[in-house]
Amino acid sequence: MNRFQAVVATVTTVSALCAPWAAQAQATAPDMVLARNLAATCANCHGTNGNARGDMKPLAGLAADKLIAMMADYRAGNQPATIMHQIVKGYTEEQIKLIAAHFAAQKPAK
Ligand code: HEC
Repeated sequence: MNRFQAVVATVTTVSALCAPWAAQAQATAPDMVLARNLAATCANCHGTNGNARGDMKPLAGLAADKLIAMMADYRAGNQPATIMHQIVKGYTEEQIKLIAAHFAAQKPAK
């Protein structure tokens, strides 16, 4: 079980004990799948689950707030880039948050 699944499992368990939480748990699981699918669009360059090969920057295990800040810098043009300033424009802030949560939950490979 990875960390993402653990979070989903915890929320699901809590919601089983506490009815008002049920709706929230149902909203959480599909978000995790959406997050994974969105993050998969980064895999061509940043590797499977953010484990990059060669000189490419890995995203696995990167703190969510750090990734969100870097994406904001690319979006604003504050960070020089060859491609990321274009890529970031294809995602909403909400999608970036989901992507960041996914990569933060990935275990960096050695
Ligand atoms: C076409 C290849 C490509 C794709 C696809 C791609 N990236 Fe990048 N990424 C790069 C390159 C190249 C850099 C180095 C900066 C630059 O030149 O644009 C980079 C840099 C970054 C950095 C900075 C890392 C650091 O430690 O400095 C982050 C964060 C990042 N990318 C996130 C993403 C996310 C999130 C996605 C998917 C939504 C993504 N990238 C998709 C090529 C890509």
